Amino acid sequence: MKTIIEPFRIKTVEPIRMTTMEDRQRLIREANYNLFSLKSEDVLIDLLTDSGTGAMSTNQWSALMKGDESYAGSPSYYRFEAAVKDLMPFKHIIPTHQGRAAEHILTSVIADGYGKGKIVPNNTHFDTTRANFEDAGIDARDLVIAQGMDTSLEYPFKGNMDLDMLEQLLSEEADNIPMVEITITNNAGGGQPVSMANIRATKAICEKYGKPLIIDSARFAENAYFIKLREDGYQDKPVKDIVREIFSYADGMTMSAKKDTFSNMGGWLALNDDDWAEKARTRLIMTEGFPTYGGLSGRDMECMAVGLEEIVDEDYLQYRIRSIQYINERLDALGVPVMKPAGGHAIFIDAKKMLPHIDPLQYPGQALAVALYIQGGIRTVEIGSFMFGRQPDGSEKPARMELVRMAMPRRVYTQAQADYIVECFEELRNNISDVRGFKVAWEPTSLRHFTARLEPL
Ligand code: F0G
Repeated sequence: MKTIIEPFRIKTVEPIRMTTMEDRQRLIREANYNLFSLKSEDVLIDLLTDSGTGAMSTNQWSALMKGDESYAGSPSYYRFEAAVKDLMPFKHIIPTHQGRAAEHILTSVIADGYGKGKIVPNNTHFDTTRANFEDAGIDARDLVIAQGMDTSLEYPFKGNMDLDMLEQLLSEEADNIPMVEITITNNAGGGQPVSMANIRATKAICEKYGKPLIIDSARFAENAYFIKLREDGYQDKPVKDIVREIFSYADGMTMSAKKDTFSNMGGWLALNDDDWAEKARTRLIMTEGFPTYGGLSGRDMECMAVGLEEIVDEDYLQYRIRSIQYINERLDALGVPVMKPAGGHAIFIDAKKMLPHIDPLQYPGQALAVALYIQGGIRTVEIGSFMFGRQPDGSEKPARMELVRMAMPRRVYTQAQADYIVECFEELRNNISDVRGFKVAWEPTSLRHFTARLEPL
């Protein structure tokens, strides 16, 4: 059989409230052209993020009832810890309410231990990771391979770290680099995977300079499945073993369980180093909670434990990767400049290519995102100069890429809904040259894309 079906049935549904194009024109104006300011009930297909938006399974819902809400020593924590260690055998598993809390705690450990003026290289820092480092005065450097920035180039592991650049940076700045990070999959770079060979080689460079390697692991299972599909020697390996091998090269991880754990909330920081873990737990108690709940309910930890078993299911992963590819292929066939090959969690559109008439500092990605909402009620997110263009000193610089991300929530949308998304592009194509750019009318000092107000030009 060639058709890959959704490997689940739907037991509970959430009705979608229909809107017209006129409604949406008004609604987006009232939201100051910032899609984060829309009410979600005014959205038909919500592709803003795949974070915390997945559908939980019957097993996860029933595990919620087992949640033990004890302040200290909850059995839910121990079930969660065992599930993490089964895949990621780190010594210390520190629960946090979501990924960025783990990042914040890790950043504070590094900033306290090493002082300011430090550099942390990564293939590509995600926005909250970058913001946490920059807030602590740490220079967040992106060292993804050049192929990773060419959106139309077919290359199997576009998330790979540029090993020459990493080696050079470490040889020049070793004293200023407290740790090296790899993000799997490379979210900001198109949800592209990192190969096992690249993770292994990054680890070897880290060892040469005595630096810990931390993995930002939000979409680890999707990355592992790409390794199985694309990397020699892994075709017959169970995904679980591939996951274990990935983490065997790391000294720690940060995790957003809102992605590859099918949880609405949750995350963790895992470390092998006793000293870092001790500092992290002290900070955790100040900001999140006691080390056996860390900002979560017992039921959230139960849900993560079950989710970790389900996420490495290969029938699920096959469907997941294929469903994203399907939309990518159909858009590609229409001539929409999609990032190729398809990433693991999202379809990325190159807005610079689709709207060449809009200057990068007039945010072509945001213009496309707004147009998609008006056209079909689809909510997406810009990953370009609107998200990244504002510099810590307040100046503006075009981002390296102008992308629009359509992140697919896990186990949520059907194939008819996927076809509807494609149809919206078909309609939009006819009047794309009428789409105009934006200027920022108001912005906060950091992470402006969440709350800034925009005006059409
Ligand atoms: N790291 C990566 C690679 C992420 O994609 C995210 C979140 C985080 C860390 C932070 O985790 O949200 O649990 O605090 N990404 C979401 C997204 C928000 O839409 O891509 P969090």
